[in-house]
Amino acid sequence: MAQQKKLYIKTYGCQMNVYDSERMAEAMGGSGYVQTDTPEDADMILLNTCHIREKAAEKVYSELGRLRPLKEENPELKIGVAGCVAQAEGEEIMRRQPLVDLVVGPQSYHRLPGMESRARNGSKVLDTDFPADDKFDALKQRPRAQRGPTAFLTVQEGCDKFCAFCVVPYTRGAEVSRPAGRILEEARDLVSRGVREITLLGQNVNAYHGEGPDGSDWSLARLIRALDGIDGLARIRFTTSHPNDMTDDLIAAHAECEKLMPYLHLPVQSGSDRILKRMNRSHTAESYLRLIDRIRAARPDILMSGDFIVGFPEETEEDFRATLDLVEAVEYGYAFSFKYSTRPGTPAAERPQVPEDIKSERLQRLQALISRQQNEVQRAMVGKRVNVLFEKPGREAGQMVGKSEYLHAVHVGGAQLERGTIAPVRIVDALPNSLAGELLPA
Ligand code: SAH
Ligand code: SF4
Ligand code: F3S
Repeated sequence: MAQQKKLYIKTYGCQMNVYDSERMAEAMGGSGYVQTDTPEDADMILLNTCHIREKAAEKVYSELGRLRPLKEENPELKIGVAGCVAQAEGEEIMRRQPLVDLVVGPQSYHRLPGMESRARNGSKVLDTDFPADDKFDALKQRPRAQRGPTAFLTVQEGCDKFCAFCVVPYTRGAEVSRPAGRILEEARDLVSRGVREITLLGQNVNAYHGEGPDGSDWSLARLIRALDGIDGLARIRFTTSHPNDMTDDLIAAHAECEKLMPYLHLPVQSGSDRILKRMNRSHTAESYLRLIDRIRAARPDILMSGDFIVGFPEETEEDFRATLDLVEAVEYGYAFSFKYSTRPGTPAAERPQVPEDIKSERLQRLQALISRQQNEVQRAMVGKRVNVLFEKPGREAGQMVGKSEYLHAVHVGGAQLERGTIAPVRIVDALPNSLAGELLPA
């Protein structure tokens, strides 16, 4: 076997990047690489990047700047840029930062080992194709040792929606769904290695329609029902969903599948129909609210989460107030809000922009409302019984922390619990970022 080399991966952006980084590490395992937590002793450094907002994309260049001394010290060190910045900027990255040896887009990760050996031979290597071959096949999870109790599993990648603000359809390409049989196989393998909760990932995960083992077209609901039957798997989640793909069978799955957790991230972006139209979202505030009514009718305790953009081009104070009204109406358990960031090449970049100070002011008001709501939802948990999947020891001695069904972080004290245990807990206090609980008899 080749001499062992060390690979350091830094991951930015969304959960799909976390999943992809794991796959890349495994693929490089075949070329004799083991992962390291310290860039200083690495033979190869990979930055798995995000292009969603300007700040995310700029982080790459400042990080590359910080790596310069390492490269000077060790000219054998290879530096690669992967992820959505790699896809969006391609060669430009090597022009701006000549210390980069390798640029690889998300659809070419299965070619990384070959790229690495070319880079070792002194070439600059770039691959940002959208090849027709199945990268997931080549990146199949290799049997490995035990792992933590939760895992991500990509089932769908890419986006055909083209929201006017968003780079994802360009960086991840068109929607592709993996065959259901492969996903079930990967899930069973994860469970055999100690995983109890799987989060199915996709940019538009609920648009999933993959080939089923029987040759028919499977929806996400059908896939979830099949996963529900895997012994040892205790919890299923999925993210991120688009309101337009929230079909009746998926809503019904929330009522019927015991393992499907009562938490749904359903971004709406704005509460103003005028802005939603300009965003090319093809739903209205009203249709979104009615959808949530139907979801809550199926699963009354479901905790809703969402994403919002403030200061989208031409957003007025009145449009913004409609967003506040929508948030008031939904009562989110979690919500994530962002200032609109102009992304080159997207249609919204060409529209009249909202001044920065107005964006900041709106973001502050929205975040104040959201955090009030989050706190209320958390306080309402006090006294309730939840089930917690324990993931790791807490900060204090004897403490264990995990997640409730609703994705709230819960910690209990004085508990002798193994990682991966699911146990009933009574919530006794709501702290700013977590809930305190006490174990109940099973
Ligand atoms: N596929 C997911 C979104 C991925 S991006 C979906 O459809 O919801 C995650 C979030 O980033 C989006 O929901 C949006 O709120 C935010 N976002 C995307 N592009 C943005 C931009 N140009 N400026 C600010 N926020 C943006
Ligand atoms: Fe981006 Fe819209 Fe696609 Fe989500 S649905 S990834 S926000 S284009
Ligand atoms: Fe970022 Fe690409 Fe994910 S732009 S949010 S890493 S899909």
